[in-house]
Amino acid sequence: MKKKRPDFDSRAAEWDKLPRRVALANAVLELIKREIEPQPWMRVLDYGCGTGLVTMGLQPLVKEIIAVDSSAGMLEQLQSKALETGALNLSTFFIDLDKEWKLPAGIDLLVSSMTMHHVPDVAPLLAHFRSVMSPGSWLCISDLEKEDGSFHDDQSSDIPHHGFEIEEMESFFKKAGFSDIKTMPVMNVKKERNEGLHLYPVNLTIGKN
Ligand SMILES: C[S@@+](CC[C@H](N)C(=O)[O-])C[C@H]1O[C@@H](n2cnc3c(N)ncnc32)[C@H](O)[C@@H]1O
Repeated sequence: MKKKRPDFDSRAAEWDKLPRRVALANAVLELIKREIEPQPWMRVLDYGCGTGLVTMGLQPLVKEIIAVDSSAGMLEQLQSKALETGALNLSTFFIDLDKEWKLPAGIDLLVSSMTMHHVPDVAPLLAHFRSVMSPGSWLCISDLEKEDGSFHDDQSSDIPHHGFEIEEMESFFKKAGFSDIKTMPVMNVKKERNEGLHLYPVNLTIGKN
């Protein structure tokens, strides 16, 4: 029987309550800030934004930020944060994975954290990213390094990729036409597994359009 997609809607309200999740998003955010130095003129897109742990860190630094996700529940959480903080430069964009969709264009910085392993076909998505990005813009993708399949606690749902080898992720960037590609470690996520503490390295890959 085909496995179902993970149900992010039902986890949205509790998402930010896990400190290691917040710590990972903060580490990704700090690395993006260090490497790219987001500017007040930039139009930014966060693909697979979830509750906006990365989005909300970039939002005060840039002109506009578009938060994209395929979970309406996750986007609702982010909308509440935007309302509470008066973040008028933030908009959300829902993606129905069973229908055709197109991302908004003119993007100066496109970021994505811990989402690519949920995307069955990464190469065409990166080609689409590039088609909506302005000349000289940056793509920053953070995700798990190749793991043994034990990362996700819920083994009953469909996870298309058990992380990515660094070369594999960089080859997606190359194929899509990005240059100046580099990968750096973000942090090791620690989880208790049968054999004891298991470390899951997370990397950030950056490329220029
Ligand atoms: C592991 S969460 C990461 C959320 C957030 N980036 C963070 O760092 O906390 C993955 C997110 O990607 C979304 N997602 C999964 N597959 C997607 C797809 N194909 N397109 C867009 N979003 C997707 C999920 O709804 C979820 O919010």
